[in-house]
Amino acid sequence: MAKRAKTTLVGKIHPDVLAFTVGQDPVLDLELAEWDCLGTAAHVATLARLRVRPPVIRPAEARRVIRELAVLRDEARAGRLVITAADQDVHLAVERLLTTRLGDVGRRVHTGRSRNDQVAVDIRLHARENLSALTLEAAALATELLRFARRHARLPMVGRTHLQPAMPSSVGLWAAGYAEALLDDLLTVEAAYAYADRCPLGSAAGYGVPLPIDRAFTARALAFAAPHHNVIYASNARGKCEAIVLGALGQVMLTLSRFSEDLILYSMPEFGYFALPPEFCTGSSIMPQKYNPDVLELIRAKTAVVLGQGAAACGIVKGLAGGYNRDLQDTKALYLDGLRTTRASLRILRLLVAALDVRRDRLLAGFTPGVFATDRALALVAGGRPFRDAYQYVRDHLDELDTVDPRAALAAKTGRRGTVNLDFAPLRRRVAAMQRQTLRQQRVTHRAFTRLLGTL
Ligand code: ARG
Repeated sequence: MAKRAKTTLVGKIHPDVLAFTVGQDPVLDLELAEWDCLGTAAHVATLARLRVRPPVIRPAEARRVIRELAVLRDEARAGRLVITAADQDVHLAVERLLTTRLGDVGRRVHTGRSRNDQVAVDIRLHARENLSALTLEAAALATELLRFARRHARLPMVGRTHLQPAMPSSVGLWAAGYAEALLDDLLTVEAAYAYADRCPLGSAAGYGVPLPIDRAFTARALAFAAPHHNVIYASNARGKCEAIVLGALGQVMLTLSRFSEDLILYSMPEFGYFALPPEFCTGSSIMPQKYNPDVLELIRAKTAVVLGQGAAACGIVKGLAGGYNRDLQDTKALYLDGLRTTRASLRILRLLVAALDVRRDRLLAGFTPGVFATDRALALVAGGRPFRDAYQYVRDHLDELDTVDPRAALAAKTGRRGTVNLDFAPLRRRVAAMQRQTLRQQRVTHRAFTRLLGTL
């Protein structure tokens, strides 16, 4: 016998079709719930200002709705909000809860909006909050790297190209390089934040509504930089916003992955430059001697996953006709997981760097005479020889190279005498500026949210 169709807010639907189309939304949307409450509050505040007769929502009714949305937001944060399969998603769940608790006025809140602009605004609110938090987490890791770099600024370490010993370098230079990489990666995170900082509300299903909705007011209520200018674009940017965030996350993860690979390599017994804190390694069930660099290996793997999530989101968007398509729903899991993974990776690496040990003897043992070959050629240049001749001379006499004190070799190229910069203060200043800007951003948005939920 055919299964009985399930009655939902948006029609009678075959239960298998409902389950298939709803997918993971009842679980995934829990993470968007607090943002759905805020977005709904802004929309209701805007509806209360509409100059239409009869009013869609009276100011006193809007205040009741917004008060209830504040309660719902707290419930969502405490994990007490439940989305049923019949709700389909958080949007209809919030509408159902408002109607159950407040009666008929709940049936008015969806006036002039669609789940399309609703989910888009939820994701953007979520993205801004999470990108700010991620920026602070990346800044904390950069700070830890710079602390480590300062502690070991001039501790010699062989610089490698093709993994082969190349030139004298230092632990400080190595670590600070990753701090600067993170700072530059944060430029792409900043760009993703700016992309997310537009309010799609009022675009509704993507074609606007015949109501004088003040979109600039809604945008201001949620502390967005501006509403989207074009309503079709507001809708089409769904999925792209997620892909752009994932793109920025992919860049951060790429840095973490290369750093992890360096640590895996340089902490293996054959190198032994670094000692991973034992509490960051897991052992083997059979081999008693093992301390494996699992955290670093998983970061390497998760980098591939996040890059793949970015590619998958682009793939979903690529062939879509303009306007909303249900395909977009599948960008949500990619986006949410990518953010969670990247933030967790930044946090665990900061802990690891704070506990990382160096092995001076092993670092020094890595220096072979060949590491000084280029410096020797340049010393000949200083005596007046053309570089190409000096290069050829040293190449022909490699066995005559002296072992130089690596500290002296490093000193010869730091400061005004060379291009190696072991002054990390400018990087520390960049981290501080990034932190200040992010905290300011958070203050501005959080103040707007409090104002929105507290008053009307
Ligand atoms: N859960 C849906 C999504 O994530 C919400 C939007 C549904 N819109 C629609 N026209 N069916 O895309």
